[in-house]
Amino acid sequence: SFEVALARSCMTLTVPAGKTILEVMRDAGIDMPSSCEQGACGTCLATVIEGEPDHQDVYLNDAERKSGTKIMTCVSRAKSARLVLDL
Ligand code: FES
Repeated sequence: SFEVALARSCMTLTVPAGKTILEVMRDAGIDMPSSCEQGACGTCLATVIEGEPDHQDVYLNDAERKSGTKIMTCVSRAKSARLVLDL
């Protein structure tokens, strides 16, 4: 598992194995848009302020992936113990 802190919502959530960031945010009452939920459409994109994403999507390009500043919350996870998102 890893932690996702939502900077603007002042909330820290734990994402367990088997659940996505998107699911955990929705469980916490965050209204996050999504569409494909397979990492392809770009709808569930969030900005990463801190931490290292583990990209599992097919939406971001190589430069975006390397920059580590964006994450698709429906499929991607974290390499670091904690991600801080601009949400
Ligand atoms: Fe389509 Fe996440 S909902 S990429």
